[in-house]
Amino acid sequence: MSFDFDRIIDRKPTHSFKWDKYKGKDIIPAWVADTEFSPPQDVIDAIVERTQHGPLGYTLPYESLNQATVDWIKREHNWAIQADWLVWNPGVVPAFNVAAKAFCDAGDIILVQTPNYPPMLKAPELNHCEIGKIPSQLINGRYQLDLDNLEQQAANPKAKLFILCNPMNPCGSVMTESELTKIADICARHDVIICSDEIHCDLILNPETKHIPMPLIDAAKDNSFSLMAASKTFNIAGLGVSFSVIPNPSLRAKFRNAGMGIVPWAQVLGLVATEAAFKGGLAWRDALLDYLRGNQEYLYQEINAIEGMSMQKSDATFLAWIDCSGLGVDDVQKFWEDAGVGPSPGRDFGEEQFARINFGCPRGQLVEIVGRIKAALA
Ligand SMILES: Cc1ncc(COP(=O)(O)O)c(C=O)c1O
Repeated sequence: MSFDFDRIIDRKPTHSFKWDKYKGKDIIPAWVADTEFSPPQDVIDAIVERTQHGPLGYTLPYESLNQATVDWIKREHNWAIQADWLVWNPGVVPAFNVAAKAFCDAGDIILVQTPNYPPMLKAPELNHCEIGKIPSQLINGRYQLDLDNLEQQAANPKAKLFILCNPMNPCGSVMTESELTKIADICARHDVIICSDEIHCDLILNPETKHIPMPLIDAAKDNSFSLMAASKTFNIAGLGVSFSVIPNPSLRAKFRNAGMGIVPWAQVLGLVATEAAFKGGLAWRDALLDYLRGNQEYLYQEINAIEGMSMQKSDATFLAWIDCSGLGVDDVQKFWEDAGVGPSPGRDFGEEQFARINFGCPRGQLVEIVGRIKAALA
């Protein structure tokens, strides 16, 4: 089956968060992490069918949805979960903030890696906790967590929770079994619960890497859980649905309680779309990965040929973390925007001299992005 990822879809009339930022300006948005692609036809059909039925009232997560999710996780990640480990949420960001409420008191320390997705950096403060930043280091072309630093900070008795981001955003590394085992050992020894944000786990570009959900690591099986969603992969983030996989019943109960009265139910159309994606979206997803690999290769060659810029080929995600420190400009974001391209500002992730480019778009748009940057430097 072939899928048309080259098709340009005009999102400007849809109040798209990504496109509205530069409304009326000649700037191609390459920032927020949704893609420019239409989801698989099965997903669209399921949404149409459900809306045509009529009433769209409160909807419980249901058996065939749970089963499709269980099957997807088994097939994709070789993890045999039970349906009752699933807690459906209206998003991963609410889920890791609920985790902070569930497992931390005011003044505790929440560990997060840097650079990182901005809402994750903000979660400690939003929950009246302190942040413990665990840096990622670029070693032989691959970003890796500084495990000595983790050991040191996890030993602080105030450290209660590590919100891990794996695959990493923005760095894109997929953590290896050995890295995850070390993280799990450290956290188990120091009683630090691991809330593992794995939202990008179905977007593995490097076939030599494999995503391993944190609770599959022996030392983490009782004190960790995974946050996942179909949203990034199938471009349905606007439907507001994710799920947390929490094997430990006591953690699950605490997590559920912490969200009560604050966190809304997962939305009916998001549940329907997730089921359809997990049941019928595999061929589309595999084709998407091939397309993204092509985009990544193109961007990698072009960016690394520009003096003053460099990027690594990330293992996963449709995001490129571009080091612009060699350009010698004070304001990297302004440089890109003046060139007519709108990346996510590196400073929001904790690195002033970087820009994050979303390459989840038709190749033609990526070519235009590269062309604008080259023209600005010519
Ligand atoms: C690591 C990570 N977690 C969570 C999210 C957002 O999740 P949600 O829209 O489900 O709240 C993103 C979106 O970019 C992300 O990159």
